[in-house]
Amino acid sequence: MTALDPATRLTSLQSSTDRFTFGVLDGLGLSSGAHCVDLGAGAGSVADGLVERCPDGRVVAVDLDVSHLDGSRAQVLAADIADLDFAPGSFDLVHARFVLCHLPTRDEVVAKAAGWLRPGGWLVVTDPFHLPEETAPHPVIARIMAAYRRLQSGSDLTWVRRVPSLLGAAGLCDIEFTARPACLGNRDGDRWRPLIDQAAPALLERGLVTESDLAEFRSRLVEPAFVDIPQVTLAVWGRKPYIAMGAEVVTGSPVVNRKM
Ligand SMILES: C[S@@+](CC[C@H](N)C(=O)[O-])C[C@H]1O[C@@H](n2cnc3c(N)ncnc32)[C@H](O)[C@@H]1O
Repeated sequence: MTALDPATRLTSLQSSTDRFTFGVLDGLGLSSGAHCVDLGAGAGSVADGLVERCPDGRVVAVDLDVSHLDGSRAQVLAADIADLDFAPGSFDLVHARFVLCHLPTRDEVVAKAAGWLRPGGWLVVTDPFHLPEETAPHPVIARIMAAYRRLQSGSDLTWVRRVPSLLGAAGLCDIEFTARPACLGNRDGDRWRPLIDQAAPALLERGLVTESDLAEFRSRLVEPAFVDIPQVTLAVWGRKPYIAMGAEVVTGSPVVNRKM
């Protein structure tokens, strides 16, 4: 296996997940003048989609590496999410997909991001929940997925489960969540081949897998009958309450709704 370039990996991530993401975002009722920020914008499909939906608003795409963002649509900001310091009440939507679980200060970022919302504004966090490798249908899948997780040291691939409670602790209401199984295997939605291809050199260098593991993994993925669910992608969102005079909440409820 050869390493894939980051652009291909980001594009693959987008094409496998954008439909799910916009299914959530389109349900939030954003106005055409909404101000939005996408944290860890990658190759920019979410930011671009928000520009289309909010033509009279403002969309900021933040990333450490802005080389995959074209800058002609959203406003591009090269920055570390951990260092961001937007004014309170700057946004109607703060969105972060597949990035916060990798940050050491993820809990603090959630609290900080909630403070950037205007009343009625939404914070939407999407991250993977990694299912136990030992439940994989084949030993080679278990070995590869365990190795991949070890390579992500510093990331927490089960952190997303805590996000509903973090949103509640940050004072948000109307907390909801939905999930989508991430497909591994010979289907259009597979997003593992590019991830493992890109990780292959590091996995080999650290002795976490062998060339023969990678070859077997690769051949499994193209078997017509093979399909597996190594992770579930969870999207979680909540909104900043509107406060009436006397600090009474006039819309928004702490009730949590589930959508599966
Ligand atoms: C897995 S990609 C996800 C990209 C995009 N959110 C998506 O879902 O298509 C993670 C992105 O977050 C960016 N990133 C990682 N750590 C970051 C940080 N501390 N500050 C800003 N961006 C960061 C990476 O450069 C990369 O573009």
